[in-house]
Amino acid sequence: MNAMLYRLLKRCNVGSKCCFSTLLWSLAAWILFLQVYKTLFPSSIQLPVPHTPWGKASVDVYDEPEVYQRIHNSDRTANVGKEQPVLKGQRAKTKGRSSLLVPLKNKVKDKAEEEARELAALQKLALLFPGRRFAVDPSKTSSDEHGYFYPGREWRDTDGKTIQAHGGGILYVAETRTFYWYGENKGGPTYHIGKHGTARVDVLGISCYSSKDLWTWKFEGIALRGERTDKTSDLYFTNVVERPKVVYNERTNNYVMWLHIDNGNYSKAAVGVAVSTQPEGPFDYMGSKRPHGCDSRDMTIFKDDNGDAYIIYSSVTNSELHIGMLTEDYMEVVERGMKKVLVKQHREAPALFKHRNFYYMVTSGCTGWNPNGALVHVAESVLGPWATLGDPCTGGEDEEFRAHTFFSQGSFVLPLPGLTDTFLFMADRWRPADLADSRYVWLLLKMDRPTVPRFDTEFPLNFPQCQDVSIPWVDKWKLPKGWNAPDRR
Ligand code: GAL
Repeated sequence: MNAMLYRLLKRCNVGSKCCFSTLLWSLAAWILFLQVYKTLFPSSIQLPVPHTPWGKASVDVYDEPEVYQRIHNSDRTANVGKEQPVLKGQRAKTKGRSSLLVPLKNKVKDKAEEEARELAALQKLALLFPGRRFAVDPSKTSSDEHGYFYPGREWRDTDGKTIQAHGGGILYVAETRTFYWYGENKGGPTYHIGKHGTARVDVLGISCYSSKDLWTWKFEGIALRGERTDKTSDLYFTNVVERPKVVYNERTNNYVMWLHIDNGNYSKAAVGVAVSTQPEGPFDYMGSKRPHGCDSRDMTIFKDDNGDAYIIYSSVTNSELHIGMLTEDYMEVVERGMKKVLVKQHREAPALFKHRNFYYMVTSGCTGWNPNGALVHVAESVLGPWATLGDPCTGGEDEEFRAHTFFSQGSFVLPLPGLTDTFLFMADRWRPADLADSRYVWLLLKMDRPTVPRFDTEFPLNFPQCQDVSIPWVDKWKLPKGWNAPDRR
């Protein structure tokens, strides 16, 4: 090398001893600089290769690019509970810290820690979103597996297609002993508007499925269709159409659908209404408004035994819930008599049900697509006041899993016709990296021992005895043997 340089210098006619040693020193300095740079910025140049924790058999759970995207693009479902909010001061401190000050030993440790974190996240991901070969597919499933619910597994309809009915609810039509499941059809690609925009899919519409046994679901079509051309429509594909619920009106013989209507950045905050003369639709869209003049996001409808129906929605930027009556035909919100409940408690995803003259409501916290803890509340009247009983989730091996509603968010509680103390709790395990692959977590909700609300400050002394509510986790379950939905409740 030296000889070569010498020859080169000679040819350039600058071969003095002094010049030669200067050049050698420059070369050494350059090599040293490269070494230091490589040590300081190793991972900013090379993308880390994700490690696959599974054996060959389970590799199909997620292919590598997807795993990579999930872990590195802050799809936080797999990391929930691990993140600490960064305070302003802290962020500035970390930003300003020169990597020169981080000893090499720490860098190696950090890398090992990051690898361990990735491994844990991948394992969690495989558990939360089992791959296709684990799908519940009534069109194929053997008789041994017939009727088994597997919360979190992909679920297919009678045509073998993935069920698309998220944030949904179920209507039972006693005359035909048929259940109708309405939900958001999210069967398109997930994208983000802007760098920090929430994950979203185009509005395709509201799906309707029918079933006699709650396990075998036939696709009845899109009951309320998204709009591709009319930009002024609430159902235009870039808007938000969520959490549809359908109730039947005996007075008008109409099926009435209410849903959360919003624009792409969730600032419209309204409710919409649609109507049909048959349960499977098509529903005619009637328009949207802000109920009681208030912002309204997650919402539900509850129909009482006496035919009175109510709308319940998160308002004042999700900090409180509002409850108001619907008109006799269920097509309008009664503007008078709205009650504010769970004020400053920041609850959303309300799901109501009635048990022995008490009203119960399961809610979630407000963390977007990320799961959080459920709470169950109780009242003597739908309009409140409401007292809080606590987190109904029990069982499951892992405390973090249990404390985040088994990594899901409630959408509806269905009374099971013919059963008095058991309900069906329906929840969504959102998958913001691919919303179409969000899963359903359906579990039995049980009425437990008599209790009085403990946590509520509004009326701790004289709330009458109600019943505790529990939602025990099970990996696999079946409806009671011989259960058949009767034609009358
Ligand atoms: C949740 C809400 C979902 C959806 C999501 C969007 O809080 O319950 O229905 O709106 O936010 O981030």
